Amino acid sequence: MSVYELESRCFKDPYPISVLVFYAATFPDLFLVAEEGNRIVGYVIGLIEQQGRVGHIISICVDPDMWGRGYGSMLMDSIEDIFRRRRACRSILEVRVSNTRAISFYEGRGYRIDGVIKGYYLDNEDAYIMSKRLC
Ligand SMILES: CC(C)(COP(=O)(O)OP(=O)(O)OC[C@H]1O[C@@H](n2cnc3c(N)ncnc32)[C@H](O)[C@@H]1OP(=O)(O)O)[C@@H](O)C(=O)NCCC(=O)NCCS
Repeated sequence: MSVYELESRCFKDPYPISVLVFYAATFPDLFLVAEEGNRIVGYVIGLIEQQGRVGHIISICVDPDMWGRGYGSMLMDSIEDIFRRRRACRSILEVRVSNTRAISFYEGRGYRIDGVIKGYYLDNEDAYIMSKRLC
């Protein structure tokens, strides 16, 4: 399965291939892919923002067939380590207010809800902004 196929399985409004290619080509060190055997089972895309102070998790997705096996945690730990090494001491992300599984997943990893962005998604759903202090 390709990263784009995974993205399409995880999200009802997947990023187009061009956006995934842009992140992979422009910030390859912040585009992490988890594999089992030769199979891609998950990925996370990060970005460093605000003069290097903040790491932004742009997207994280694990193949639904592989949920609950630790891949999501491994991807989060890995991208947060990279943020820390780049001296970004805060990690932030947006998540659909209806995505209760992801919200609990993030809360279990130390993220807290900081606020709401009204109509953030294409279908007008609101997003929670969540963040975690890294150092
Ligand atoms: C959110 C998401 C990335 C989590 O990925 P995951 O691989 O299931 O995550 P993990 O397996 O590391 O952790 C999930 C839970 O399973 C548990 N778990 C981990 N390994 C396990 C194992 N071997 N057996 C049973 N449970 C396990 C974890 O403890 C965790 O529970 P917790 O959150 O209560 O601590 C995944 O559900 C996903 O891709 N969702 C769709 C896309 C999405 O919503 N992305 C976020 C958008 S902002």
